[in-house]
Amino acid sequence: MTDGAGLTIRPMQAGDVPRVMQIADGLSHAPHWPASAYESALNPNAQPPRVALVVEALESETVAPSGPEPGTPSSAGVLGFVVASLVAGEAELESIAVATEAQRRGLGGRLLHELVAALRQPGVTMINLEVRASNRPALGLYAWHGFRETGRRVAYYADPVEDAVLMGLDLGGHKWLQNCDSGHGGCGSCGKSTALK
Ligand SMILES: CC(C)(COP(=O)(O)OP(=O)(O)OC[C@H]1O[C@@H](n2cnc3c(N)ncnc32)[C@H](O)[C@@H]1OP(=O)(O)O)[C@@H](O)C(=O)NCCC(=O)NCCS
Repeated sequence: MTDGAGLTIRPMQAGDVPRVMQIADGLSHAPHWPASAYESALNPNAQPPRVALVVEALESETVAPSGPEPGTPSSAGVLGFVVASLVAGEAELESIAVATEAQRRGLGGRLLHELVAALRQPGVTMINLEVRASNRPALGLYAWHGFRETGRRVAYYADPVEDAVLMGLDLGGHKWLQNCDSGHGGCGSCGKSTALK
């Protein structure tokens, strides 16, 4: 899916993994997975199955005319990613990250939006996640997109020791996600906008 701003969200591919790891490694709050974990996430036969998406700037905006064909997707333009696993009708949002220089422009929200659209198809009813209690950007992102706190795990994280906030999004109860056409003009049911800022 490509928009007028020259951004596209698509399934992660093996060639994206180095750039995805580079983004994660630059962010203290992002899980720092080894390449093998991403490769497993991309294996359609792996258990549990996973959905992995990237958001990228189109090649035509990022390379000189002598480069590849304009508009050809390239991991060089990947700005963020999201990974979720699927178990027994529920999804676990395992990782979401946007490169530092591209944050606060709506990309995290768009990744979440497309993830939910992708998860609706296998009939997932709930998306769960856990996040450090001090991670204000992530807590803000999740709350803005309809996730609600469902519990806490005390001292769940190490280095530093910190509580995990458990959050969930009930897909069946969130009409925004049912009614929105996955474009980015806003969501009529609840008034939330996913437009690029
Ligand atoms: C969390 C993260 C993915 C958000 O990505 P993003 O592209 O900046 O998010 P968006 O621009 O879509 O922001 C959407 C909303 O999230 C909240 N938010 C995002 N960044 C925020 C910040 N720095 N402080 C407070 N709220 C923030 C706001 O509600 C924001 O809406 P607003 O800009 O209208 O106020 C990004 O900050 C990130 O990569 N963080 C490091 C990795 C991480 O913590 N991942 C989550 C744990 S796995």
